[in-house]
Amino acid sequence: MPMSHVLLGLESSCDDTAAAVLVEGELRASVVSSQADHEKYGGVVPEVASRAHQRLVVPVARRALREAGVAKALALGLDVPFTGVNYLEGHLFSVMIEEPRPPFPHLNLIASGGHTQLVLVREPFRYEVLGRTRDDAAGEAFDKVAQLVGLSYPGGPEIDRLAERGDAGFHDFPRSRPGDYDFSFSGLKTSVRYYLDDFADDERAVLLDEHRADLCASFQQAVVDVLVGALRRGMEETGVEHVAVTGGVSANTALRRQAEALCDEAGACLHVPPMKFCMDNAAMIAVAGYHRLQHEAASPLSLSVQPRLALPGG
Ligand code: KG4
Repeated sequence: MPMSHVLLGLESSCDDTAAAVLVEGELRASVVSSQADHEKYGGVVPEVASRAHQRLVVPVARRALREAGVAKALALGLDVPFTGVNYLEGHLFSVMIEEPRPPFPHLNLIASGGHTQLVLVREPFRYEVLGRTRDDAAGEAFDKVAQLVGLSYPGGPEIDRLAERGDAGFHDFPRSRPGDYDFSFSGLKTSVRYYLDDFADDERAVLLDEHRADLCASFQQAVVDVLVGALRRGMEETGVEHVAVTGGVSANTALRRQAEALCDEAGACLHVPPMKFCMDNAAMIAVAGYHRLQHEAASPLSLSVQPRLALPGG
């Protein structure tokens, strides 16, 4: 009997492909996919059934594991090591998926919808979190401001696209730096709201019609100035020559351009993930997991999900 009592049951005896998950003997999920293929034959055809089982078993098992919230059952079922990966570590590793990978030590600015952190990555799994946001994350500010100016969710890509043809000098929004490296984006978002609130409804509609792109560019410039400012300071103080920008906001055109200019000026090398690895993805989790398994023992199957897990050293 394995130590952990998570059990994946599979059933494929006839024309149903089914999977169920038990945790400590309690049913957590039960998924059944009935094969429609047999209807036209008026009965179950074993050859047709076995082909359908092959096609359905993985999606059905996956759905059951997802519903049960225990992906670990898969590791248990396959008797392979299981390792838990901190989602933030995933972003750190998104620049390690493909060449050119940054050598250690390097700085990594994670800017996503939920986090903004400047991390000195001394070596894999040895981090020093230099700064983090005290309120909203950078991506969250993009999304909220996009809503204020009438753009759809997620707002980051929309603001990015419009800002490319806007005037960043149209309005001077505040750049808040609450500490040496810490970030704060909530005041910036509020200042966009106050700015818009100063107009009567009809005037605001005209303003947005004529200057939406300019407002997007001005807001975006304030975010980019803060992020690039923190990177500059981090580079000066740590002397590292390799810098990474990761997380959903690292897809931002102006941020990439200005981080690149900063690195050129400082003789440093900028690493950004390819677009497909900027947003949440499982490749970065797999690479982080791979490195974790090389460095330490597999996680116990009793490991549970920790929604607000911080980076070690942070
Ligand atoms: O890392 P990510 O996929 O997941 C979360 O932590 O949520 O980041 C998503 C965030 C969203 O807030 C989205 O608006 C922002 O990244 N984002 C961008 C751009 N593309 C995505 N922000 C600015 N410019 C972009 N091009």
